[in-house]
Amino acid sequence: MSIIITRKEEEAGQHKLRLQSERIFARRRRLVPNALSIFTPATVQQARGAQVTDADGYELIDFTGGIGVLNAGHCPPPVVKAIQEQAGRFLHTCFGVAAYDLYLDVAERLVELFPHGEATKVMLTNSGAESVENAIKIARQYTRRPAVICYTGSFHGRTLMATSLTSKVGYRLGCGPFAPEVYRLAFPDYAHDHRGMSEEEFADYHLKKLEEFFYYYVSEKDAAAIIVECVQGEGGFNVIPVKYLQGLRRVCDQHGIVLIVDEVQTGFCRTGKWAAYEHFDIVPDISTWAKSIASGMPLGAVIGKQHIMDGINPGTIGGTYLGNPVCCAASLATIQYMKDVGLNEKAQQVGSIIRQRFEAMKKRFPNHISDVRGLGAMMAMELSHQGDISKPNGELGKAMVQRCYEKGLILITAGAHGNILRILSPLVIEEHVLQRGLDLMEESLAELTA
Ligand SMILES: Cc1ncc(COP(=O)(O)O)c(C=O)c1O
Repeated sequence: MSIIITRKEEEAGQHKLRLQSERIFARRRRLVPNALSIFTPATVQQARGAQVTDADGYELIDFTGGIGVLNAGHCPPPVVKAIQEQAGRFLHTCFGVAAYDLYLDVAERLVELFPHGEATKVMLTNSGAESVENAIKIARQYTRRPAVICYTGSFHGRTLMATSLTSKVGYRLGCGPFAPEVYRLAFPDYAHDHRGMSEEEFADYHLKKLEEFFYYYVSEKDAAAIIVECVQGEGGFNVIPVKYLQGLRRVCDQHGIVLIVDEVQTGFCRTGKWAAYEHFDIVPDISTWAKSIASGMPLGAVIGKQHIMDGINPGTIGGTYLGNPVCCAASLATIQYMKDVGLNEKAQQVGSIIRQRFEAMKKRFPNHISDVRGLGAMMAMELSHQGDISKPNGELGKAMVQRCYEKGLILITAGAHGNILRILSPLVIEEHVLQRGLDLMEESLAELTA
């Protein structure tokens, strides 16, 4: 049995066993397939705001928010109340069998927040992957074209089409054959690949590549959709150049291609705006949502221009649980809570504190941190050997997750090499808790690189 020592205990010389956590992981090993990822060694018995009490009663600061699901924090009181009240009224009917206002209230809120043109329609789903699956089905039927274009470094989920669109090989190994007519372009990843160009020149270069792509790989006349993340989440918080995304919008308009923006990780205040695409001054034809939409209840959404959403065959999209009433109640309360507490402003403050601290750490550890990047509170630092961005240091990423956990911080990595430390903390995190978490990261880096 391994012994995990927390910082306080270490200082006090009292090394304790985390017996309940050990017990949970032993059960997990017995009962759960090994292939299901273990991102951190943490456990939980209770959580509030940005703090988790683990199974042994230790307090942990949460810098992950259940992978971007808890922008409004763990258990916002109005959300918990709305869930409890709705659970006492009815749990399920299937919206197609007996319709209810809650679904329509969520749809109305989403249309208000994310108008996609003169008229917008909303399909609710259960997850991010399901939103992506349906977005592709809608785009293909509407355009009557087969090809879907996606990017290196992208992550769109784990169902068959979503896995086919997802880039990291580790998520795909042995899962083929994949869905056909999926084509992948190089993501315009300025931090890793700028080759001395300005960001504008770099965007032009990649837009030129897209033109060539239509010539050599698939005709624009066969392209149903281009799907893209404004900030790649799992891919390592790579921010798309503004000029490139605006160029994509133009190309899609020109050729009748549906532009799908995947907002599953970036949405609902994470970047300091309701939608990340608002930073780029574009509006997608279709967008996909999940995660923070309902504070942890399984809900997603496909939002799109009405003529596209209605341009498909009846019965080809749907599902038993779509827009479950308890999830809808949670979503309505979440959105209201986000407005009431000014969550976008909080995200901007949280993001600027993280950026300042990360930049200072980069100065202190120039041989280990090669880049600091992000948008709003979607911030990451990249760990590399000799501070060289082309030499990813995944071992240090892994060690950081473990060491931070031992000190009382839940942290996860991103990127194909697991060398990017990303912060997706609840945005309601109090400043002293945020600073403490950042202190723990800095201390861990100092110890691990000493
Ligand atoms: C951008 C993006 N799209 C889709 C998904 C898949 O969402 P889910 O895990 O809810 O299926 C994720 C999950 O991390 C994501 O980050």
